[in-house]
Amino acid sequence: MPLPEVKLKALLTLLAATSLVSPCNAFFRNLMISDTAMARVDPIVNRGEPAMHVHHLTGGGNLNFESTGETLSTSNCTNSILTQDKSAYWAPWMYFEHENGTVQDVKLALGLTAYYKFETRGNTGGDVEYSVFPKGLKMLSGDSSKRNWTSPWPVPAQSLWGPEDTTQEALQEKAMGFNCMNYESGKNEPSFAYPWLRNKDYLDAHCTEGVRAEIIFPSCWDGKNLDSDDHKSHTAFPTLIQDGVCPETHPIYLPILFYETIWQTNAFKDLPGRFVLANGDPTGYGYHADFIAAWDDGVQEQVRDNPQCTGLTTDGVVENCPVFQGRIQSQQEAASCKLTLPSSIAGEQTDGIMEGLPGDVKISGVQHDPGSPGGSSETYAPSSSVPASRSSAEATATDTSDYYHSAATTASPTTFATSPPPAQSQYPSTTTTTYTSGKYVVEMVLVDMVQTVTATTAPTMTHTVVVDGTGESARAKSRIRARKHVRNHGHY
Ligand SMILES: *[C@@H]1O[C@H](CO)[C@@H](O)[C@H](O)[C@H]1NC(C)=O
Ligand SMILES: *[C@@H]1O[C@H](CO)[C@@H](O)[C@H](O)[C@H]1NC(C)=O
Ligand SMILES: *[C@@H]1O[C@H](CO)[C@@H](O)[C@H](O)[C@H]1NC(C)=O
Repeated sequence: MPLPEVKLKALLTLLAATSLVSPCNAFFRNLMISDTAMARVDPIVNRGEPAMHVHHLTGGGNLNFESTGETLSTSNCTNSILTQDKSAYWAPWMYFEHENGTVQDVKLALGLTAYYKFETRGNTGGDVEYSVFPKGLKMLSGDSSKRNWTSPWPVPAQSLWGPEDTTQEALQEKAMGFNCMNYESGKNEPSFAYPWLRNKDYLDAHCTEGVRAEIIFPSCWDGKNLDSDDHKSHTAFPTLIQDGVCPETHPIYLPILFYETIWQTNAFKDLPGRFVLANGDPTGYGYHADFIAAWDDGVQEQVRDNPQCTGLTTDGVVENCPVFQGRIQSQQEAASCKLTLPSSIAGEQTDGIMEGLPGDVKISGVQHDPGSPGGSSETYAPSSSVPASRSSAEATATDTSDYYHSAATTASPTTFATSPPPAQSQYPSTTTTTYTSGKYVVEMVLVDMVQTVTATTAPTMTHTVVVDGTGESARAKSRIRARKHVRNHGHY
């Protein structure tokens, strides 16, 4: 099968977008392929019983109503490519509500990417305690019941944040986003610029390759409790979400964990209806995600301490990390890890066309941007090729650019992905990633489960193409080489 044209275009656009930013990251990228199940399971919030809504479940194969770090550790498989990781990662599934009220699942592109960032934080004077995720640590980011924005909007430049911008709720609501994937026009949106789900007209017009949902976890820990009554108060956000200082009550600095998931919302282009999260939320403000740590003992420490794994120039590529070597499974193997669901939900339909959301979840909330009062109108933009809301959305992005595009946040790894229609591949699968390496932005494209393409704007431009030996990859490789040629003699 030749590479679909869309992928090539994506690659071209991304290579062209390479640019200079400041250094910062020490991270690795952990890919969960597809899902282990699409089911009402949540052993943190709904322990011992079916969860209220359907989650995109990933990670250790032992995930069930009762999971703990210990039980997850005995999983006989994981859908992470990193077999030493049996941690569980989950977030609500995304659905589409048709005009007639029926609900249909939205397909994933690839799966879920969990970023682990290990850099030291700013303003801490170096005299603070860092910890990897202790086995069994449970974390929850976001609030399923939220349907509106509560902190100051537009978000001021980060240097101007006052107390009302840095309450835990205010930090939390800035720690998520839903961004357009749009390679064709090079209009991928920056991470965390749009912390709400924009309406269908906007998505149809702009998000040609889908929408990337992203969420950051709190990275300050009380150092004692693996969980708490609200599943949150044992953790906290540092003052700048991905940087800054931890509160005195939560003095231990954890790695910064965040998830990215690309939803193929573009498959519903021009169909009347709206997108809605499995928890009945059409606004996006109620997005949330969960984590239970269950790494093999010592692995996180070795990865953190090895410059080949999380040094400033590793680019997050797990294949180059000696700690993972020989322990990375293929994407096909990872995707074959499936849960054995508890009998009470084993037969429940969670995909296809359904009368309503699984778990009898009712849709509540009205889509609106953070600047409008919640519930002010049924839809916040008329249907036209250039929705009225578009300008307000764009103005918002501009207003907040000091924060969202500050050196620290620009340096955050961001994943951009596109994918062919689901029918073309079992695990729809072009993931492209942009992140910093030294002073340069590096872009990576993972195509059809086998390729890693790295392009670097070093003064002497280097390109690394890592592929397996299949004919498929070889063809792709030659196309990439062809592009390299153009690029060498074109833009540079
Ligand atoms: C893991 O265990 C389940 C049953 O608990 C079994 O169905 C599955 O085949 C096992 N997977 C592997 C990879 O051994
Ligand atoms: C509702 O609309 C969807 C999408 O057009 C269609 O597949 C489904 O059959 C419809 N259901 C009913 C009950 O009309
Ligand atoms: C925002 O939501 C909260 C409850 O989550 C509610 O009390 C408040 O009135 C809402 N604000 C607006 C402007 O809708």
